[in-house]
Amino acid sequence: MGFESEKNNSVLSKLATNEEHGENSPYFDGWKAYDNDPFHPLKNPNGVIQMGLAENQLCFDLIEDWIKRNPKASICTTEGIKSFRGIANFQDYHGLPEFRRAIAKFMEKTRGGRVSFDPDRVVMAGGATGANETIIFCLADAGDAFLVPSPYYPAFNRDLRWRTGVQLIPIPCESSNSFKITTKAMKEAYENAIKANIRVKGLILTNPSNPLGTTLDRDTLKSLLNFTNERNIHLVCDEIYAATVFNTPQFVSIAEILNDEKSNFNKDLVHIVYSLSKDMGLPGFRIGIVYSYNDAVVNCARKMSSFGLVSTQTQHLLAKMLSDEEFVANFLCESSMRLGKRHKHFTNGLEQVGIKCLKSNSGLFCWMDLRHLLENSTLDSEMSLWRVIINDVRLNVSPGSSFDCQEPGWFRVCFANMDDETVEVALARIRRFVGVGVKENGEETKPVKNKEQWKKSNLRVSFSKRMYDESVLSPLSSPIPHSPLVRART
Ligand SMILES: Cc1ncc(COP(=O)(O)O)c(C=O)c1O
Repeated sequence: MGFESEKNNSVLSKLATNEEHGENSPYFDGWKAYDNDPFHPLKNPNGVIQMGLAENQLCFDLIEDWIKRNPKASICTTEGIKSFRGIANFQDYHGLPEFRRAIAKFMEKTRGGRVSFDPDRVVMAGGATGANETIIFCLADAGDAFLVPSPYYPAFNRDLRWRTGVQLIPIPCESSNSFKITTKAMKEAYENAIKANIRVKGLILTNPSNPLGTTLDRDTLKSLLNFTNERNIHLVCDEIYAATVFNTPQFVSIAEILNDEKSNFNKDLVHIVYSLSKDMGLPGFRIGIVYSYNDAVVNCARKMSSFGLVSTQTQHLLAKMLSDEEFVANFLCESSMRLGKRHKHFTNGLEQVGIKCLKSNSGLFCWMDLRHLLENSTLDSEMSLWRVIINDVRLNVSPGSSFDCQEPGWFRVCFANMDDETVEVALARIRRFVGVGVKENGEETKPVKNKEQWKKSNLRVSFSKRMYDESVLSPLSSPIPHSPLVRART
């Protein structure tokens, strides 16, 4: 293997062999642990439960039902075959006009109908992954930098930096103010970059946030726009989680700020990245969108989109589905309700055992606070705790350090990629992990409140030794998700 990679290093390009992809982070290691031993209620009840994947699997039934009711929308059905040739042959990188119209309308609906989008500005990409890279290619040269509030989505390192050669400069956010972005931290990050002779081309926001599950309010968005406008740098907003908001405050899109009558921001510096991977739970369809207010960027991104078009078959199906206004309205409402219910159930379960999460109103995950269980307040301790959670508790959660969180002890846990029964198994494991359970004499044990109690209880050792039959909790019919491969995303 060593020899192979040395050999490859001499024959492959610098890009092909550089380490910027970030595949070696614990974020991806957790997935490998899951893939090597995936949980199944009957076949592998002690396997690892995948809680590191931000997938939205709660509304597949609604989509399946629509597909069954609309066989004409699929070109590989008897009802739809008439459209087969036209769709199979279509290859214009502008995309099907009806697809762009439907996407623009859907973007409007997911922002509460408060703002509209121009279909001619909708540019296709291979998921938000492709859209993010495309926008960076359009805006920056190798060596240039973008500011990004941390903690941030780990695969940004791959998507924004790897092939573009662009740097990311974190703006550290802290738990003391619920990880809100402060002007002070932003200015500091910017000024330090300038002092180091780095050309800062813009700021990347993820709103709603991955991993925090929080949304940015109107005033914050305005002040961030002020910041970028004053410095004549770009603002890129990844709004991939727009419709995952399940609680107040409601989502405010950057598009709404630009739309404000009194707003005189320079629109040419603002770009939105979107996708149907989260809001509709269709990451496999690879529907990514660059929506820019800048004509030159739209034109350039469109030329680049040749490398990551959405297949016309998918465009055709989605154009039909998203044009069904009744379906969309019901889907968005139901999806938000189901996410809210799952979030509440899961976070209540954690709270019962003394585990708190950052207060959130959106996303497919929660930001879990396990600082009280760290041996020391260091990133090494965080990694030790994470290994216990993966190897003994058998849950793949993602450590805060993989999101570039500066404060040790935070973990992201995904809750929407599994069925109700698996959630119960996961909660049962967490209960055992923190020592809540029923002792042999029938007495209830109390949750561990701090690291001293936890160390004393020696749970790390006792947990892995304990075998228990989780299959009781999961009925036969349970459709447990399985990851086909180690996926380099989400
Ligand atoms: C903030 C953010 N941006 C982009 C992506 C990539 O999404 P896609 O599957 O559409 O490529 C993800 C996936 O988790 C994400 O969380």
